[in-house]
Amino acid sequence: MKYMGSFPSTRLRRNRRNDWTRRLVQENALSVNDLIWPIFIREGKNIKEPIDSMPGVFRYSLDNIHELVKRAIKKKIPMITLFPKKPQIKKNSKGSEALNKNNLVCRALRLIKKKYKKIGIMCDVALDPYTDHGHDGIIKKGIVENDQTIKILVKQSILQAKMGCDVIAPSDMMDGRIGQIRKELDKKGFQHVQILSYAVKYASHFYGPFRDAVGSKKLLKGDKKDYQMDFRNSREAIREVALDIKEGADFVMVKPGMPYLDVIKTIKDNFKIPVFAYQVSGEYSLIKNAINNKTVTEDVIIESLVSFKRAGASPIVTYFADEVAEKLS
Ligand code: PBG
Repeated sequence: MKYMGSFPSTRLRRNRRNDWTRRLVQENALSVNDLIWPIFIREGKNIKEPIDSMPGVFRYSLDNIHELVKRAIKKKIPMITLFPKKPQIKKNSKGSEALNKNNLVCRALRLIKKKYKKIGIMCDVALDPYTDHGHDGIIKKGIVENDQTIKILVKQSILQAKMGCDVIAPSDMMDGRIGQIRKELDKKGFQHVQILSYAVKYASHFYGPFRDAVGSKKLLKGDKKDYQMDFRNSREAIREVALDIKEGADFVMVKPGMPYLDVIKTIKDNFKIPVFAYQVSGEYSLIKNAINNKTVTEDVIIESLVSFKRAGASPIVTYFADEVAEKLS
């Protein structure tokens, strides 16, 4: 390769010799602006309930989320994302609770939006917290039906926008939903509401702890391989993103994160759209358990997050957002 130089006139260690020179040649850095903090919410009063499979992560009742939102604002975390855990009785085959304007997410949105202006809120669009079979859409003849599901997702999106959601985040992987959601948002006067498409979402085994957190794990029948991507594929991701950009996505996401850094880079190299990464629950728990066991030190957290920046992603949805923001400030 040209311009590479050669030893001994070239010594790469010279640029690594002191802290100041290392800082001068640093190619990537993590800032608090890169963080999106997922928060699990549930019914009840004065509850902060540990999630067994995610040490250090809790589910909060709505009266307890003020403290979290204030903390996020104080640390300048730009955005939070809300995930509800529904009691079993509120679940059915159609996920109708998703369209109830007094459901947990809607109440949380109203509560937060009324009091706090300086933080963005993102909400998932998908039916899995609300269905008694744990799938992201409605089931016909044994598979998740695409076009009927989209009709419900469009309604769910409009409802969340009405309640003050800033970023609508379809995580369902139905074909064509971004376009229909965008069209309806625009029609109803929500031109300013952004869409983050979970465009490249793999059928991953790293979601286990999350499904535990939202209570869909035991319910889930089968797997999600007929709508989420096969982890053996990466070129297909380019087609997913191309379609979603055409349909009006403001940002796209690659999920999970660390095992898919190559995919993040592929998307970044092919498109000029902000690429979000999701360091998912299974990644979080692997790292957290290893820290708790003293297998590794907590320095691996920042190292793991910088890997996303190197690959070309920012921001990053991570359950470490709160503790990392503390370290960065
Ligand atoms: C639901 C959804 C999932 C996650 C975010 N939104 C799980 C799934 O698709 O089964 C996973 C997040 C995580 O594991 O942290 N559509």
